[in-house]
Amino acid sequence: MYTVVKDLHSYWAYLVVIMVVVGTVNALVKFFGKKEYGNNDFRIALFTLIVTHIQLLIGLVLYFTSPLGLSNITANGMGGLNAPMRLLAVEHPFVGILAVICITVGYSKHKKKLSSTAKFKPLAIFYTIGLLLILSRIPWSNWM
Ligand code: HEM
Repeated sequence: MYTVVKDLHSYWAYLVVIMVVVGTVNALVKFFGKKEYGNNDFRIALFTLIVTHIQLLIGLVLYFTSPLGLSNITANGMGGLNAPMRLLAVEHPFVGILAVICITVGYSKHKKKLSSTAKFKPLAIFYTIGLLLILSRIPWSNWM
């Protein structure tokens, strides 16, 4: 169970990073270029949201099944974790959840707006924050 979920989370992460980069760059370029909002922009924003929500669900399952997740904190206590352990058990999950919240806020705000610029603005702001949060706390050395 653990290895299946871990591998799934690890491979799905490629799609997450690619889609959050695509969604963020698309929103930034179209916002600053004052472009019309179209069907493709909606699809990109929605697909980014879905992909990150799926990663959140897989991540939550992983958090409770991995020896490096919650059970590492219960076994060693918060003070007993070194920096790489703390990254996996605390920082990465917490910041990952924050990132998904940001992306969700950006998506819902953009849906309520009517003009193109007003739609791209929350996407550009919140997807950028989400991307930076994700990149800042990916366990790169375990992954690549
Ligand atoms: C939102 C975007 C996220 C991305 C892109 C992401 C990506 C990754 C990557 C690349 C790894 C390393 C996998 C490996 O060693 O091959 C990892 C590990 C892990 N992630 Fe995430 N993650 C995200 C969110 C989350 C969330 C929300 C949680 C929990 C609530 C979570 C829990 C974990 C745990 C516990 C590990 C360590 C698993 C282990 O090595 O046993 N992740 N994540």
